[in-house]
Amino acid sequence: MKVISFFSYKGGAGRSTLAYNIIPILAQKYYRPTKESPMIVIDTDVDSCGMSYLLEAENKIEKDNCVQHLLGEPFYVQPAASIKEHPFLSKLIPVGNAYGYPDNEAILLLPAFDNKAISAGEKSNYNGSEFAKDNMEKFLKTCRRFFKVPAVIIDSAVGNNATANVSNEVSDVIVCCMRPTTQFVNGTKRFLLALEKDNADGIEAEMKNMSETDIVLVPNVIPPEEISINGVQYPETAKSKIQSSFITPDFMEGSRHKYHLDLLDWDCFGIPAVERFMWKEDILFCQDPDTLTKNDQLALSRYKRLADIIYNIELRDE
Ligand SMILES: Nc1ncnc2c1ncn2[C@@H]1O[C@H](COP(=O)(O)OP(=O)(O)O)[C@@H](O)[C@H]1O
Ligand SMILES: [Mg+2]
Repeated sequence: MKVISFFSYKGGAGRSTLAYNIIPILAQKYYRPTKESPMIVIDTDVDSCGMSYLLEAENKIEKDNCVQHLLGEPFYVQPAASIKEHPFLSKLIPVGNAYGYPDNEAILLLPAFDNKAISAGEKSNYNGSEFAKDNMEKFLKTCRRFFKVPAVIIDSAVGNNATANVSNEVSDVIVCCMRPTTQFVNGTKRFLLALEKDNADGIEAEMKNMSETDIVLVPNVIPPEEISINGVQYPETAKSKIQSSFITPDFMEGSRHKYHLDLLDWDCFGIPAVERFMWKEDILFCQDPDTLTKNDQLALSRYKRLADIIYNIELRDE
C-alpha cells in the first residue's frame, strides 16, 4: 500500500485540482482498485476541504464519517470480513464514478467536514499532533492489513498545519506543489531546507519526525509558453527561477529524503495552467479527447507522467 500526499507550503498551489486529475489515472492505469480492495482518498485540509468540495460530497458528510472524527476520536485496529462490516470504513463515501471509474465503491472518500474543529484540539496532548497521527496510523494499518488497499491519496493541508504534519509523516510519497511565483518558490525552499536542519527549531522541528520520504517537486499552474510579460517570456523565466532554487549542489546533499526532479526538467517542465480550470476544476482524463485543446493535451500528458513517477517510486522497508 502506497500513501501519497499532495502537499504545498501555502494554499492555492493547485494540490486539490492536481490530485483530482491524477487519482483517476492512478486508478485506471495502475492500481485497478475493487470494492474489496478500494483506493482511499483522504481530505486532511480541514480549513479548506478542496477534495470534499470537488466531489460534491458536502451533503454526505456526517460528524462520524469525516477526517476530524478519525483524528479526534480513539481509533482501534479492528478486523472485519468486508468493508461493509467495518464500523468506520463502511461509512466512507463511494466516489469511483465521480472520478470516471466504473466501480463506484472501488474508490472511497474520507472527507473533511467544512469548518469543524478536531475534537482532540481541546486535549493537551494534541499539540504535537501525536494523537491524530496515532489514529491515522491505525486507520492506515487497518486499510493495509485487512483490505489490501493498494493506494491512499491524501489531499493535504498546507505548511505546518497539524493535519499537514500528520499527512507528511504517514506518507511514502509527498507530491510537493508550488506555483512559479516568488512566495511559493522561496517559501517551499525554506520549508524543505528546514526539514533537513538538525537544529531546526520552532514548529518545523516537529517535521523532523518524518521518516525518509520520497518528495516529488511539482511546479504547478505554469503559464503557457506564449505568454510574455514586460518582454520576458514566461515559463522560461519561471523555469530558471525554480531550477536555480532546487537544482543546486547543496540543496539535497546529505538529505534523508529522496527528491524527484523529473518535472523540473527543461523539456518537461511542471504542469501547465489549464484555462477552463480558472472557471471550474475538472478531470481532463475523463473528457472526450476531441474536446481537449493542445494545452489541455499537454497538461494531460504531464498528469500521466506524474502518475507514472508516483507509481514507480519503490516503497522503502519499514
Ligand atoms: N492547472 C491549473 N490551471 C488553472 N487553474 C488552476 C489549476 N490548478 C488549480 N487552478 C485554480 O486554482 C485554484 C486553487 O487550486 P486548488 O487545487 O484548490 O489549490 P490548493 O488545493 O493547493 O489550495 C482552483 O480553484 C483553480 O481555479
Ligand atoms: Mg485544496
